[in-house]
Amino acid sequence: MTLDGILAEAFAKAFPGIETGGVRALPATDPKFGDYQCNDALRLSKKAGMKPREAAEKVAAALDRAAFSKVEVAGPGFLNLTVNDAWLDGALARISASPSLGVKQTGAGRKVVIDYSSPNAAKQMHIGHIRSTVIGNAIDRIYRAIGYEVVADNHLGDWGTQFGILIKGYRDCLTQEERDRLTVATLEKCYVLSAAKAKEEDGVWKDACRAELVKLQQGDPENLALWRRFIDISIGEFERMYARLGIKFDTYRGESYYNAAMPGVVERLVSAGLAKESEGALVVDLSSENLGVAIVRKSDGGYNYTTSDLACVESRVAEYAPEKIIYVTDDRQKLHFAQFFAICAKTGVKTTLVHVPFGLMSYQGKAISTREGNLVRLDDLLSEARRRAFEIVKERGGDERLAEEIGYGAVKYADLSHDPATAIDFDWDKALALEGNSGPYLQYAYARVCSLMDKAGCDGSAPAPFAPRTVHERRLALALLEFPGAVARAAAAYKPYVLAEWLFQTSQAYSAFYQNTPVLKSEGTTRLSRLRLCGLFGDMLAKGLHMLGIETPRRI
Ligand code: ARG
Repeated sequence: MTLDGILAEAFAKAFPGIETGGVRALPATDPKFGDYQCNDALRLSKKAGMKPREAAEKVAAALDRAAFSKVEVAGPGFLNLTVNDAWLDGALARISASPSLGVKQTGAGRKVVIDYSSPNAAKQMHIGHIRSTVIGNAIDRIYRAIGYEVVADNHLGDWGTQFGILIKGYRDCLTQEERDRLTVATLEKCYVLSAAKAKEEDGVWKDACRAELVKLQQGDPENLALWRRFIDISIGEFERMYARLGIKFDTYRGESYYNAAMPGVVERLVSAGLAKESEGALVVDLSSENLGVAIVRKSDGGYNYTTSDLACVESRVAEYAPEKIIYVTDDRQKLHFAQFFAICAKTGVKTTLVHVPFGLMSYQGKAISTREGNLVRLDDLLSEARRRAFEIVKERGGDERLAEEIGYGAVKYADLSHDPATAIDFDWDKALALEGNSGPYLQYAYARVCSLMDKAGCDGSAPAPFAPRTVHERRLALALLEFPGAVARAAAAYKPYVLAEWLFQTSQAYSAFYQNTPVLKSEGTTRLSRLRLCGLFGDMLAKGLHMLGIETPRRI
């Protein structure tokens, strides 16, 4: 039985008739207190009408001792628990026999939509796009790993005034050759040239841009075809980046996909009495929620980002009926999402909406900005990662493919090892360090386990008990048992770094074990047991890294 199960039984016995749900054994903060700690006697003592210590004593007395070598009541009413070898062996055997390595399939039969990366079309992706792409993809993979059906949707910014400027620029700023061999880089250049001209005094260019935009909005076939071409070229270029990063979207539904639905959305807001006229615009007053007012139709009759998100949520609910929709964007969009979610709450949208905001990223200690000249293109950043990683692996005979696995893994992990809510700095030395909390460190750890298993000539599935005996074996074993919990907590909090932290700490426990415990040189069942522990660690490391979108080469 699981520890939580054993504890639940003891609590039920100790406090009959009292609701004792949510009882948990937490890994002890300090091994000198035992392996696990349970604080729930403290929490439930009031309900039971007992002093906390008395409550803890009662639970200790009711506890089935078969699993423990030591049970102690400590402090104001904690239970300190030390599990015995037989329990530990059984728990490891159970987890290693499970195809998911113990990860609970809580999402089976359930669906989520995850909206991430979502760059604006006709521009190249740059370093600022990493966070949404990498964090969003890790959440996507973690949700799939816990059994959810995931719809990964790329909500491209593919509509708006910039397309008037682009169409005008395409016609009058580009050479025929540039038009024929159009790329995102050319579109970007064309936008810069045309936008500069739109600032000219006489306003002639600006008016022409506006006229192109109006034609596009009214469905002029020529402008519509040009716009379609810009979008297709953009998606093609984005997909090249996603392929480098091993990322796949199920759909690319940009803002424009919801154009036709927006008037209806606004009409319904008006008839429900939610949207009101204000200075020519239509707004939803959210001041009672302290969220100001949200414009849903501008005074010129145009719709905006909020309107398209409202139409989008209706479409997703109707099409997928998802349990939740998760949006991964930078934290400057917090107000937008708070307003948009508040409106959804008023209209009774039938799904849970979650915004996962992330902090700014700086690059080598400097804010990322065009002015700093460090608005590195994502393509170049990835090539630089590959180049630097190649320098590291070439001495060991590693090839370009290995350099990509390590370089891209380093870039991803540098982001994923932090709480998304915090601002981070991307630093090459730290990202590529072979020691410390880095992607390459974890990939090396994996390659070392693989080489150990190869040398031993076994895959760790030998029919020996795990039987962790030494301090280091026990610590590693206890850490391995936390894998399912780390995955579950990362998913529930939308924070891949919870899993990253587990991977790093467990790799350190493995290192300490490996340095202090003979494995290949041990004998008989001890050798088999230790190899089995190593094998389980390797499997979990690979699975965990995979959930972060990081490759696991067997040889480095
Ligand atoms: N395109 C937006 C941007 O670049 C992000 C879109 C996020 N998703 C959404 N449904 N609003 O900032």
